[in-house]
Amino acid sequence: MNVLGVETSCDETSAAIVTDGREIRANIIASQADLHARYGGVVPEVASRKHVERMLPVLQEALTTAGMTWADLNAVAVTNRPGLLGALLVGVSAAKALAYARNLPLVGVHHLEGHVYSNFLAAPDLAEAFPLLVLIVSGGHTQIVRMDGHGRYALLGRTRDDAAGEAFDKGARLLGLPYPGGPNVAKLAEQGDPNRVPFPRSWLGDSLDFSFSGLKTSLRTFMSRDNGQTPSADVAASYQAAIVDVLTEKLRRAARQTGIRTVCVAGGVAANRSLSAALQAMAQAEGLRLVVPAPVLCTDNAAMIAAAGYFRLLHHPPDGLDFDTFASEPLGSA
Ligand code: KG4
Ligand code: ZN
Repeated sequence: MNVLGVETSCDETSAAIVTDGREIRANIIASQADLHARYGGVVPEVASRKHVERMLPVLQEALTTAGMTWADLNAVAVTNRPGLLGALLVGVSAAKALAYARNLPLVGVHHLEGHVYSNFLAAPDLAEAFPLLVLIVSGGHTQIVRMDGHGRYALLGRTRDDAAGEAFDKGARLLGLPYPGGPNVAKLAEQGDPNRVPFPRSWLGDSLDFSFSGLKTSLRTFMSRDNGQTPSADVAASYQAAIVDVLTEKLRRAARQTGIRTVCVAGGVAANRSLSAALQAMAQAEGLRLVVPAPVLCTDNAAMIAAAGYFRLLHHPPDGLDFDTFASEPLGSA
């Protein structure tokens, strides 16, 4: 079954074609990052307008790359929640029009569920490994979920304030680095000493919750006191290490508490090499199987939406053409 995936929840216009939830035939991603960089972050109205311009060329390119025509598609999956409403509406309108015109089954996909399913693209045998633990680390969300089956999630921990991606992005701004912050902090950190500045780690007792807002404040305080004396690469590496340590340790605790042996990571921050190295070391020490998708599948893309849509359609009837978009909604809502 060839599923067309469409993703426009933030600043990437993406269309993908995935066969049977595992074989990526095309995954076209048109990023708007350069456009938003001058504003220091995503401007929702600019994002919506760019999606309108790019949606059809991106769809066409997906077909060309896959060597397919519209007639080869068997279903359409589109991100409908959560995200920037104006941006979501562009992808959802295009997907509905296509599904109607071609009489194809259509499914609205939760963006975080899409991130989770990037792991199934990386490791198709995961479907036999339930229950799984998934650390979701994106720009707006940080959570640890237990996945008991397709579409079945239990929230074990979540951030009480900033998301990990937000901590990277806000830290980048304080360090004077351009948008998008995460990759730029990671790049600068490569030459730095992660032990130079002892930034705080917020453990919150035995909880699997996270808190990153204090870390951001301590970076601000450090910067104003340090007056540029410490090399910025050392500051970036130390700041990144504080985020990575907490994410890694909380996933270790979740695995110990639940006894689950297969752990996955999803979302833009999962593209961070320092995080994946720390998770690898932790998984090896604990005897866990770890799945980390390739960086292009960690950040926003439509292949993950097509994969999530495929598995949803295997187990549920398609959505009607009247489904809505939602700016925020927890993972696991129908
Ligand atoms: O999942 P994603 O692409 O979009 C959302 O759903 O939010 O995640 C974007 C977040 C941003 O905060 C970005 O700075 C962060 O992921 N990010 C990274 C890296 N690549 C993207 N953070 C750290 N290191 C990276 N290499
Ligand atoms: Zn995302």
